[in-house]
Amino acid sequence: MPRGAGAGQPPEAPARRLDPPAGAARLAGMTKSTVRYVCTACGAAFPKWAGHCEACSEWNSIVEEAADAGPALARTKPNAARKIAFVDLAGDAAPPPRAVVGIAELDRVLGGGLVAGSAVLLAGDPGIGKSTLLLQAAATLARGGARVLYVSGEEAIEQVRLRARRLGLADARLELAAAINLRDIVAALEAEAGVAVVVIDSIQTMWLDALESAPGSVAQVRACAFELIRLAKTRGFALFLVGHVTKDGAIAGPRVLEHMVDAVLYFEGDRGHQFRILRGVKNRFGATDEIGVFEMTDRGLAEVANPSALFLAERRGNIAGSAVFAGLEGTRPVLVEIQALLAPNPSGSPRRSVVGWDGGRLGMLLAVLETRCGLRLNASDVYLNIAGGLRIAEPAADLAVAAALLSAAADRPTDPGMVFFGEVGLSGEVRQVAQAEARLKEASKLGFASACLPRRVARGRGPLAAPDGLVLREVGHLADLVARFAPPADKSSA
Ligand code: TYD
Ligand code: MG
Repeated sequence: MPRGAGAGQPPEAPARRLDPPAGAARLAGMTKSTVRYVCTACGAAFPKWAGHCEACSEWNSIVEEAADAGPALARTKPNAARKIAFVDLAGDAAPPPRAVVGIAELDRVLGGGLVAGSAVLLAGDPGIGKSTLLLQAAATLARGGARVLYVSGEEAIEQVRLRARRLGLADARLELAAAINLRDIVAALEAEAGVAVVVIDSIQTMWLDALESAPGSVAQVRACAFELIRLAKTRGFALFLVGHVTKDGAIAGPRVLEHMVDAVLYFEGDRGHQFRILRGVKNRFGATDEIGVFEMTDRGLAEVANPSALFLAERRGNIAGSAVFAGLEGTRPVLVEIQALLAPNPSGSPRRSVVGWDGGRLGMLLAVLETRCGLRLNASDVYLNIAGGLRIAEPAADLAVAAALLSAAADRPTDPGMVFFGEVGLSGEVRQVAQAEARLKEASKLGFASACLPRRVARGRGPLAAPDGLVLREVGHLADLVARFAPPADKSSA
């Protein structure tokens, strides 16, 4: 995940990290070889300190760690190897039993509910709503009769209770504990029977006394997660781990855990907006790229069953520089407004600023518009914004972005009843994208009258099943779109 800050000059490396263990490691009886340097963003290990992680390109994220990997609690046990029995690939594999949480947006991202014995990492910026979501999920599960334990390492019991009361969940039979010592937590979990779900909020506050390093370090976060995941598998409970996305290098980010857990969900959103998107980026028991949409209200997170209506709610028609993109998030069609603004800048080094889309992709699209379609934008600052705080990764947004840019350049609104989708290639050709039918259906459902989409090239494709009444405007090349925004005097304009 690229981070805007820190571009340009690399931050100055703190001096203390340059001179390895003055006394601490020696005192603990370690030799130089038991110290290594680990990136707190991605977990890559290096023999020497560096200011820049070669694995993930993060600056100033490498810290010193004692190289004591492995299951810390099990280290004292005798290492008796047991024989592994290999089995056939074919077997009677029943689908894993799932506990439906009861929050549809969360259940969909999980792949249809929580799998017993699985570990789910919920990652996100501090304050985005992870604790709120998990408290609601835990309380909903508990109300359904499941035994749910919630271990908070960040907030005191009273704070959690207060929040539960505010969310109207105080009656749920949730079992709470405030603890950070993993040895205590593991012992408590081993003593409890019939536990269905355990929530650990957050993994970065957990601490294993067997390790030298401080809570939040890569070694601690990994070792604590390892013990909890092992316990989840042997005891059969579903485990939720909360992981804060961290900006400073002292605390390990959730990425160091991604390979250890069964599912990774990112909770994202702009703190200035009330929308929150739950995005599955890894799921061993379901599809990835699914999203769940929530709205942060004063009574917690509310599910948004129809995100398109929400994202388009504040759209004003008849404004130049706006186009509606018929996008797809996972299996789900989502319509969003794309806004472009051009401001004159004769300095010769115009600005390109993007919120919610890929800056490199905008650069490419501007180059195609200039080179293939003769549009002159080098004396204008370009600002692009995905309204509502959504982040779009699909190349299918190219055509809608181009429409917004052309509309801004011509100072003529796009047709307010039209949606756009299609990928643009380097020669300006408009290419097919997946699931055109689903996008068209969503557009029709929300009352749009027409769609601008890639031309269907005959390659054994059947006719497009467009909803009744939806007018399809096919474009083969970006130049076709440019012609639509030509000045009214031009008779070829549409
Ligand atoms: P929280 O779940 O504590 O975030 P995280 O665990 O990811 O750090 O959410 C904190 C924010 O959510 C806080 O700024 C207040 C807001 N919030 C509401 O707007 N409404 C609510 O009902 C609750 C509980 C929180
Ligand atoms: Mg929290």
